[in-house]
Amino acid sequence: MAASNPIGIFDSGFGGLTIMKEIVQKLPKYDYIYLGDNARAPYGNRSFETVYHYTLECVEWFFKQGCPLVVLACNTASAKALRTIQQNDLERIGPGNRVLGVLRPTTEVIGNYTESRSIGILGTTGTVQSGSYEIEVHKFFPDIKVYQEACPMWVPLIENNEHHSKGADFFVKKHLENIIEKGPGIDTLLLACTHYPLMMDKIVEYAPIGTTVISQGEIVANSLGDYLRRHPEMEERLSKGSTKHFYTTDSPADFDQKASIFYGEEVNARHLDLNAGHKHPADVPPR
Ligand code: DGL
Repeated sequence: MAASNPIGIFDSGFGGLTIMKEIVQKLPKYDYIYLGDNARAPYGNRSFETVYHYTLECVEWFFKQGCPLVVLACNTASAKALRTIQQNDLERIGPGNRVLGVLRPTTEVIGNYTESRSIGILGTTGTVQSGSYEIEVHKFFPDIKVYQEACPMWVPLIENNEHHSKGADFFVKKHLENIIEKGPGIDTLLLACTHYPLMMDKIVEYAPIGTTVISQGEIVANSLGDYLRRHPEMEERLSKGSTKHFYTTDSPADFDQKASIFYGEEVNARHLDLNAGHKHPADVPPR
């Protein structure tokens, strides 16, 4: 059974586990529910309407499980759906509840990393096309030049455990050359996708020497800790039993098999059927 008032962590699939890992390490006393919408992943190439619709459906499910606070650990969902959910839906679906994303925590500190004031954002096609990173960075640091590059092959390489293979080098090199060509002064690269930290070694290898390569997990975890300190009314609502429950909209067996690559330890997921009227999911075996 899920704990009464856990923190919800959402991703299109496995990738958000890289963020959850850091959050749990930093804030171990809370209860957590993770949901990966694997049946409809990847979100990276989907339209605004689709990502918004899918994300909203999952956020509603978290609220029905008793989560007062949901973190969209997915960059694509944060970039394309978060603002609309916060502005148009939150009051109706969960008054008093909160949904946070991964863009703001990262963009509000990115200016502390760059000296050249030129940064590169590496993300999915959806994240890049949304333009959300550029808008958010300029809210905090109007002087920073933002260059972006979509790397659509990186997620499938990682999900197929091919990211350490020679074949992966081609796609890593290609996208790093592209972004440096766009912005030759770039001194900081942000891995704006949940999966990319798993390829950190290769990305650093092909980035120009001296480039700072930033992944988001620790930044998001620190920002959440800070948020809870600043919002005691939310902190008090969260249950504190250190439990972790994992759900996937696809096969739990597949989820468990791949999840440890992202989470660093074994997980035991349950199946969630979103068509089952948002009831608390039963332990349905994989089909
Ligand atoms: N979780 C997504 C993100 O961070 C990557 C995987 C996908 O495309 O669904 O953008």
